[in-house]
Amino acid sequence: MSNVLRIALVDPNDATRESLKAMFLGLNTVWLEADCSRYEFFPDVLEQTTPDIGVVSLDSNPDQAIDLIERLTTEIPGTAILAASRDTDGQLILKTIRAGAKEFLTLPISDEDFSEALHRVTHQNFGSMKSGARSSKVIAIAGATGGVGTTSTAVNLGCVLAENTLNSVALLDLDLALGDADVFLDSIPEYTLADVVQNASRLDIQLLKRSLTKHSSGLYLLPRPIELQETNTITADSIRKVIGLLKASFTHLIIDLSKTYSLIDMTAIESASKVVLVTQLDLPCLRNVVRLMMSFEEMDDLNEKVEIVVNRAGLDSGQISLKKAKETLGREVFALLPNDYRTMIEVRNNGVPLIVQAPRAGITHAIRELASKLEETSQRIEGNGELVVNAGKSKWKKFWPGTK
Ligand SMILES: Nc1ncnc2c1ncn2[C@@H]1O[C@H](COP(=O)(O)OP(=O)(O)OP(=O)(O)O)[C@@H](O)[C@H]1O
Ligand SMILES: [Mg+2]
Repeated sequence: MSNVLRIALVDPNDATRESLKAMFLGLNTVWLEADCSRYEFFPDVLEQTTPDIGVVSLDSNPDQAIDLIERLTTEIPGTAILAASRDTDGQLILKTIRAGAKEFLTLPISDEDFSEALHRVTHQNFGSMKSGARSSKVIAIAGATGGVGTTSTAVNLGCVLAENTLNSVALLDLDLALGDADVFLDSIPEYTLADVVQNASRLDIQLLKRSLTKHSSGLYLLPRPIELQETNTITADSIRKVIGLLKASFTHLIIDLSKTYSLIDMTAIESASKVVLVTQLDLPCLRNVVRLMMSFEEMDDLNEKVEIVVNRAGLDSGQISLKKAKETLGREVFALLPNDYRTMIEVRNNGVPLIVQAPRAGITHAIRELASKLEETSQRIEGNGELVVNAGKSKWKKFWPGTK
């Protein structure tokens, strides 16, 4: 399942409600929008939060719960209702399904059984239209070496995508120690990734959005932590969770990766629908691209997700020809971004994106083209079927002995 499903839960029993909540919070594919301890309040909760899925626990009062399911399925048809119970009595199951529940979940339920039930419900209930409307594109921007233009590309791509009012775009700065996306956007954020990670278990979508800084272009920024010590609190699991939350709230998530290819970077790469690998046409960069692509071959579907973007094309000194570069890499170059040092320095020093600072410059045009090409390819991927991101088993982890 490539999309994050928003879930609301009602269960008057504290113990089962807490254990269901704990399971939802542990899954990357769901986002717990609300939980409620009273059946009579649940219709209002669903009306206000309009989740994809409503889970009704039956056991505190099965008759009241079944009446509630009947009412919800007529009054709030956009939300698929699932029933949960320890009781496996055939009559109870029949009544629940007749009331309109899409699935009967037998408690206690494993993560796998719950994920399978969700998978069935999304396929039957929402079809491709609904999942298309909720899908989120995650574009990770990687670099072949330091200073190659990763942040310039990430920030300006984000601003171009945010220009389209149909999009909502977030930029996550994963260059944990030295990231400077906030400088490019001339912003002094109140909160950072460290705050979001710290509060991940009790964040809702509104709170998450309030933790981000909105730039005048419409782009939302989640910057790297302020102090180096705070980077220790960030783990691959917490990053997976934060990416899941951001996917639930935005149509596009751009991730500016560090150049360390750490477990955290690789987690983001795994979650991405596209990976833009920025390089320049010099020997050290191209050697690194070849090495990286070889390592990427070890990971399922990663090679197909990677697109090579040549930055500073046209720069004379020490450059290898594009033809020779393509031969060396043995693959196509997805896009070329021209060399324009003066404009790029102005953009960076003024903290103003290309679309504002130099709307007619060749480099701005090239970033726009890159954005439309990425949109085209991701539509093709979605049209061909869903892109399954398997966050559970990572082959990449074998490069970090000792990591579970
Ligand atoms: N197309 C371009 N033409 C000329 N200069 C560029 C271009 N793109 C980026 N630069 C310049 O290259 C420098 C490095 O850019 P940027 O910070 O985006 O790279 P980076 O890969 O994010 O670096 P780091 O490894 O430090 O994170 C900046 O001074 C930027 O202005
Ligand atoms: Mg950078």
